[in-house]
Amino acid sequence: MLSVQPPISCYLCPICAASLQLNPSAKSYACANHHHFDLAKEGYLNLLPVQFKHSAEPGDNKQMMQARREFLEAGFYEPMATAVAAMIDANPAKHLLDLGCGEGYYSRKIEAYCENPIILHGVDIAKFAIAAAAKKQPDARFIVASSNRLPYADRYFDAVLRIFAPSNDDELRRVLKPSGFLLTVTPGPRHLWQLKQLIYAEAKEHALTDELPPGFEPMDTQRVSCTIAPNPQQRIALLHMTPFAWRANERVEQAIKESAELEIETDFILTLAIKAA
Ligand SMILES: C[S@@+](CC[C@H](N)C(=O)[O-])C[C@H]1O[C@@H](n2cnc3c(N)ncnc32)[C@H](O)[C@@H]1O
Ligand SMILES: [Zn+2]
Repeated sequence: MLSVQPPISCYLCPICAASLQLNPSAKSYACANHHHFDLAKEGYLNLLPVQFKHSAEPGDNKQMMQARREFLEAGFYEPMATAVAAMIDANPAKHLLDLGCGEGYYSRKIEAYCENPIILHGVDIAKFAIAAAAKKQPDARFIVASSNRLPYADRYFDAVLRIFAPSNDDELRRVLKPSGFLLTVTPGPRHLWQLKQLIYAEAKEHALTDELPPGFEPMDTQRVSCTIAPNPQQRIALLHMTPFAWRANERVEQAIKESAELEIETDFILTLAIKAA
């Protein structure tokens, strides 16, 4: 008798690591050990059980997310987003994972830009960010989980995208197929230089490092730089989406708001690497 194999699932149970299967009601996933995970009304899956949460609301807080939304939707990082989408389209990937995807701004840009068919997945530890991402992009597959413990099957992804997001080298290698791509975006030396000058007594340029996680070989590097002129409110949003926010007090915020016609350099390094066989 032919045995009927369940369809291959990309998800692993976060409790026992068995494969998760979508059950016929299509509203929840379950493993062979009867751990169940319901799809949220927005369509995402929460695979971060409370026992693995280190705080009530891990990841970026709502204020940071709102600031990032306001700033990104105004289009200031569009040149970088377009360069990322072009690099992905030039290296076709069926399954792409956006690691630390926040509210999915880059996933939506990729969907809109890429001509090659692509199935987009996004993961972030902040539940409210994933809920917003899933609502805005119903065709993509978003989950709540930590990049330190990715509930995805081994070698599932053709490509992983990491834009200003934390990651775990072992997990990155595990979820990528052999010869899969890793595309990272990191700040270049001049990134937000004028903003830093208003915050730090002695601002320092970001060091240019070409460090890749072990087991990856470089394929391509692009530097995307441009100057932006956000209005005072958008400058404050920019401040609050960066780690500089921790250093800024009221006096600094006032100086940022009041600087006449402040122009700010943006500088991004895009690094494409391939997983060594
Ligand atoms: C600087 S933001 C970048 C967001 C998005 N990639 C972008 O560039 O707009 C970092 C993101 O990583 C998420 N994050 C932080 N720690 C994480 C972890 N351990 N696992 C998954 N996501 C995490 C935060 O919630 C936040 O959305
Ligand atoms: Zn399980």
